[in-house]
Amino acid sequence: KITPNFVYGLPKAELHVHLEGTLEPELKLALAKKNHINIGQETIEDIKATYNYDSLASFLDVYYSGMSVLQTESDFYTLAMEYFKRAKENNIRHVEAFFDPQAHLARGINFDTFINGYYRACQDAKALNVDAQLIMCFLRDMSAQSASEVLVMAQNHREKILGVGLDSDEHHNPPLKFICPFTNAIAQGYRTTMHADIDQVDSIDHIKQALEIINVERLDHGTNILEDKDLTNWVQKIHLGLTACPLSNKFISDEFKGNEILELLDQGVKISIHSDDPAYFGGYISDNYLALADNYDLSVEDIVDFAKNSFETSWISPVQKEMYL
Ligand code: ADE
Ligand code: ZN
Repeated sequence: KITPNFVYGLPKAELHVHLEGTLEPELKLALAKKNHINIGQETIEDIKATYNYDSLASFLDVYYSGMSVLQTESDFYTLAMEYFKRAKENNIRHVEAFFDPQAHLARGINFDTFINGYYRACQDAKALNVDAQLIMCFLRDMSAQSASEVLVMAQNHREKILGVGLDSDEHHNPPLKFICPFTNAIAQGYRTTMHADIDQVDSIDHIKQALEIINVERLDHGTNILEDKDLTNWVQKIHLGLTACPLSNKFISDEFKGNEILELLDQGVKISIHSDDPAYFGGYISDNYLALADNYDLSVEDIVDFAKNSFETSWISPVQKEMYL
């Protein structure tokens, strides 16, 4: 009943994709050659053979080391533009894409280099009928001081960045660690979201800090919220968005978390389906919808609800929203 054609054709918003997680093995190899960088592998197959992770930490090791091939503004432009072409194939009309400044700054790349490459690609995506925006993520396994420094660097580029997020290794890195940079970001008019990765230690505490103290507007993953009934009821009431990523969950925990995702949808929570790091987790947004449809009892209405929720909880203007809903 649910066909690939239907899922691909359905208009969608992508709210949880890391641009650095869209680096396909082919582009990684081509950029490594162009920039004379030794990545330790010489063929696509060798690169793919390193993609065997069983936890967030083991994935992140592969993900950060892969970024070493990104050197020039044009490399960042190409990465983002190749992703936006995939977005078009998936009928993504609007994308709010994450990027990780500190992962590049730590390698000696200037802020201008990646922001200008990414932003130019966002502008050129308009020609593909893809509305593309950027969310700057702080790495939670680095210091709050470092995050605050990134926020200062971004001031010259304020109009190129829609929001801020928080990603990387959540263990021992709670939201409250970042209260200063997030408070400052909110004061500067940035929209806010944070990762609440699946099956973390102190997951509910982290979600409470993010929602009740920092007041973020969305949660990335966040499906562990089901452990707390009152919190689940509350996010349903305030229409807070949760961005679930089934293929990512499958790699990190051996489960798509489809039961949790469908339970939240049934309870009226504004949950939607996204791709996280599609080049590393085996598929783009439509593949994530189809993985759920293949493994769980999903109706056409459920699929449409996920897509509607993605536009509803996106940060597009109310006028733009009316076009899609
Ligand atoms: N950075 C890129 N992908 C991530 C994920 N799934 N969780 C946390 N940080 C990330
Ligand atoms: Zn993510």
